[in-house]
Amino acid sequence: MKLSDNKIENIAVIGAGLMGHGIAQEFACAGYRVHLHDITEEKLNNARVQIDKNLTLLAENGVIEKARIPETMQRIQTTTELAASGETADFVVEAVSENLPLKQQIFEKLDSLCQPHTILASNTTALMPSQIGANTKRTDKVLNTHYFNPPYLIPLVELIRSPDTSDETVSVTCDLLTSIGKTPAIIKKEALGFVGPRLQAALIREAFAIVEQGIASAETVDLVVRNSFGRRLSVAGPFEVFELAGWDLVLDAFEELYKDLNSSPEINPLLREMVESGRLGVKSGEGFYEWSEERQQALRDRMSQALIRAIQQDG
Ligand SMILES: NC(=O)c1ccc[n+]([C@@H]2O[C@H](COP(=O)([O-])OP(=O)(O)OC[C@H]3O[C@@H](n4cnc5c(N)ncnc54)[C@H](O)[C@@H]3O)[C@@H](O)[C@H]2O)c1
Repeated sequence: MKLSDNKIENIAVIGAGLMGHGIAQEFACAGYRVHLHDITEEKLNNARVQIDKNLTLLAENGVIEKARIPETMQRIQTTTELAASGETADFVVEAVSENLPLKQQIFEKLDSLCQPHTILASNTTALMPSQIGANTKRTDKVLNTHYFNPPYLIPLVELIRSPDTSDETVSVTCDLLTSIGKTPAIIKKEALGFVGPRLQAALIREAFAIVEQGIASAETVDLVVRNSFGRRLSVAGPFEVFELAGWDLVLDAFEELYKDLNSSPEINPLLREMVESGRLGVKSGEGFYEWSEERQQALRDRMSQALIRAIQQDG
């Protein structure tokens, strides 16, 4: 049976954490039936509460109608049984913790539970679909759909195929993502970190080097990015921005500078030190900043309001 003969109706989302709950919400909002799976009822209950809050925020800002919230919530069934989500799914998005053996194990189980036409997609940040789907017998129907956080406010999804992923799987996935209002970006060749996470990793490596070398504080780095090229990047990509300047100017500017940038394949010692000393950021209450409840909420509000304004501008 051809994949494209199957109308996709049922979605399974595996892992109901930060990403999984938002991905489930996106599909339910667009009218799909969703089975959301996690290992405990507590995690699933938290996910339901959070989805309800997210939908309320969208309704308060006129992105969706308030009347649609109950029907959207009803389309999401939660379960601690992997089989209950896998058996009926036409399309699965896996969003469990970033751990290759765990993801491989889940894909292997899903391969035996799911119907033959079902596509298995991972939301991994950095791993490759050929690694994650290695133990399945349907490597042609395995790929990555990489969402950005928060998935219900960021429109782009990177779509990464392995050498085995079929054109049909890519095309069905692309159509599915478009049907829920996402902008899919097809990545030509699988590579660790694809495009978005690779670029962000390069930025944060240099940001740590700047702080570690005493060139500027973390606060100053954030101030500079937020109020300068960060603003441009939300409306034009790096190639567009630099084509305005001209590559000759870029070449002159970068010739000396590149020699001074951090290009170490090792994790910056400052990053290791922060993790070892428990300064994890918001989740431990302290990182480069002190994270009181009020400060966390203020940042979350600032980000969601700006991202909602961007959605409204996109129309
Ligand atoms: N956080 C981000 O900004 C972000 C962005 C893009 C992609 N991702 C990727 O998305 C995935 C999930 O990340 P997250 O930030 O949502 O993590 P998270 O820790 O918030 O959620 C992971 C969830 O997976 C569940 N889980 C663990 N083992 C499981 C199992 N065996 N079966 C079912 N559920 C299980 C956990 O209980 C948890 O609820 C990771 O691969 C991550 O790299 C994260």
